[in-house]
Amino acid sequence: MIPNTATRYGRVARFFHWSIALLVLADIAFGLIGKFTPRTGDTVGFLQMLYSTHKTIGVTVLSLAVLRVIWAVSQPRPVPLHPERRVETLAAETAHWVLYAAIFVLPLSGWVMHSAEVGFAPIWWPFPQNLPFIPTSEGLAVSADNVHWIAGIVLAATIAAHIGGAFKHALIDRDGTLARMWSGRAAGNEAAVHTGNGASFLAALAVWVLAIGGALTVFAPAHDAETASQLPAQQTEGWVVQDGSLSISITQIGAQVTGGFANWQASIEYDAETGTGTVSVVIDTTSFTLGSVTDQAKGPEFFDVAAHAEAVFQGGIVQIEGTNHTATGQLTLVGQTVPVTLEFNLDVTGGTATVSGGTILDRRDFGMGAAYPDESSVGFSVEVLIELTAILAE
Ligand code: HEM
Ligand code: HEM
Repeated sequence: MIPNTATRYGRVARFFHWSIALLVLADIAFGLIGKFTPRTGDTVGFLQMLYSTHKTIGVTVLSLAVLRVIWAVSQPRPVPLHPERRVETLAAETAHWVLYAAIFVLPLSGWVMHSAEVGFAPIWWPFPQNLPFIPTSEGLAVSADNVHWIAGIVLAATIAAHIGGAFKHALIDRDGTLARMWSGRAAGNEAAVHTGNGASFLAALAVWVLAIGGALTVFAPAHDAETASQLPAQQTEGWVVQDGSLSISITQIGAQVTGGFANWQASIEYDAETGTGTVSVVIDTTSFTLGSVTDQAKGPEFFDVAAHAEAVFQGGIVQIEGTNHTATGQLTLVGQTVPVTLEFNLDVTGGTATVSGGTILDRRDFGMGAAYPDESSVGFSVEVLIELTAILAE
């Protein structure tokens, strides 16, 4: 049966329940794996893949949650099986309200964090990446992260109680509670009524007011300290880029053509003592110019800026010798993620870092210029040059 009745969950309600349950459990696991994976040059690619999966599942949960609520309000809610056990019924219904709210609070706080921060693991979908009206702000990203973390704890604890309750009904009470959600079997007395509706709703509201309020105030410093303690033992230092250029050079009909990106941001952490660090560069591809062929270069054949307005490089820095360094990581360009190693000179004098280097890419790795299968009109190699100066953040 598709709709609910007073004693049954219909197919649609069960589909929403189990698909969201599975996705939420998977996302908690992915989130936790991410949290406890050390941040090093070697794990950058893995983490980017993990978080993109996590975020894509999370926004899927949010979409399903919207549809679920629209469906649920149009349906009768199956009656409690033991309305005479008032405390138990109240607890079960409070858990349901908490869970309903969680499938909005978790994805939305995650998405606010994603929109407010610069570091990048894209959501795998063709829609805009960022929520509207959310500025790029580290403070906001940290607050959203705190809400996400505390909400995750509330969610996990409630799921544990909820699953415990379901199994108590199946194994101890041996009633139809679990079967009613699992196979749609009818259970309960049609004449029973939901008595504790208002109270369970208010109890769940109180849980969320305390959790979100707490995440933004009293719990915030504890979580920040905990996150900070995961940083590598050798404290890295943040550099702020002062100015620089990011240019590329290609061969077109045998001639060298050079262009560049006007708009990009880099965040660099580097520890001079160990010669290691991380770099992440987010490039606005719409700001690209390439002389007279700018329009073709930005078009669907090459940079396809209408569909892929951002390119991102994230990598781990390693000192090779003296000022000679590499940054090995992943470059995501036109939706393709390819391992890339940048070679550069890094010179730190008097609190100013000067970086100069680059790499050579092959446009075919990114599926660019498929209509130019040989090098007669556009060469395969794309030379990337980066020059920048940065000062140590206070
Ligand atoms: C059902 C939905 C979701 C659940 C259950 C969930 C759960 C979690 C958990 C348990 C963690 C690890 C704890 C932490 O570091 O805070 C986490 C981390 C994270 N989640 Fe989610 N999440 C969900 C949706 C999303 C969405 C939609 C996004 C972004 C679009 C997102 C972005 C993140 C990010 C960026 C982190 C890493 C936070 C950090 O580095 O501290 N999450 N998530
Ligand atoms: C393996 C894990 C799970 C089991 C065994 C389970 C079992 C059940 C059962 C038996 C019911 C029916 C309760 C009743 O009729 O009184 C139920 C309802 C419900 N469950 Fe779960 N559940 C699980 C995971 C989850 C998760 C992860 C969520 C949310 C994130 C969730 C959210 C809900 C909600 C909101 C209801 C109320 C019914 C509705 O309006 O759809 N459950 N669950």
